[in-house]
Amino acid sequence: MSTATSSVVLSDVRPAAVGRRYTLTAQALHWVTAILMFSVLPLAWVMVNMPHDAPSREWIYTLHKSVGLTILALVAFRLAWRAAHPAPPLPAHLARWEALAARVSHWLLYLVLIGMPISGYLFSAFKGHSTTYFDLFTIPAPGPDKQLTSVALWFHVVTGQWLVYALIVLHLGATAWHVAVRRDRVLERMMPEPDLRT
Ligand code: HEM
Ligand code: HEM
Repeated sequence: MSTATSSVVLSDVRPAAVGRRYTLTAQALHWVTAILMFSVLPLAWVMVNMPHDAPSREWIYTLHKSVGLTILALVAFRLAWRAAHPAPPLPAHLARWEALAARVSHWLLYLVLIGMPISGYLFSAFKGHSTTYFDLFTIPAPGPDKQLTSVALWFHVVTGQWLVYALIVLHLGATAWHVAVRRDRVLERMMPEPDLRT
């Protein structure tokens, strides 16, 4: 193919491809948050099942809380970024129910990404524990309150964690379905654009 023809092909393809992807910043925030979510959950399972006198127990709690608060900060930034750089329109071939399911499940994921760290912090704080962020600084606790502790525990552990598991299973299932069955390149929307010049 001549150079002239390649440049025509590239100029035809690129703008459309760029428009169909999340920005690089949104992609980076998505993948870093996903990795942190896949870390904060096993930390939770380990810490709640550890013997109370285990020497590393306090450190694992601090790690769980610190990773959780990092998720909160990243998601706050991500939502601000999203407001300024809206998500690419959903692919036109999706049925109405599919587009609706994608939108609702994405906003529910954002809800748990914000609600879980806040309820976790409140649970700790109303139990009277201050929160240490990676040994860097300490966020004080307002003081013990039994009723508010139960409300926060209900959100974080009794319902919140199961909502998180259900949404992640749904999210990964939907992605796998798009990749393996529909083969409609939805995963590529969350991937950097390959450099077609090489
Ligand atoms: C996205 C962020 C977070 C997620 C997904 C998450 C998830 C979980 C899960 C699944 C459990 C329950 C484990 C079990 O019972 O098997 C748990 C427990 C706990 N989390 Fe989090 N967490 C997050 C953030 C936080 C933060 C920021 C704090 C505090 C600052 C925190 C404090 C706690 C505490 C104290 C428990 C133990 C609750 C108990 O004693 O039953 N979490 N977390
Ligand atoms: C291996 C794991 C994961 C894969 C393969 C994956 C894949 C994807 C893909 C392809 C999209 C774009 C969907 C579209 O184009 O409409 C997306 C969006 C999204 N993902 Fe994931 N994801 C993963 C893990 C996670 C986790 C753990 C979370 C949070 C708990 C998460 C939260 C989100 C959210 C909130 C969006 C919507 C983005 C927006 O519109 O602003 N993802 N994911």
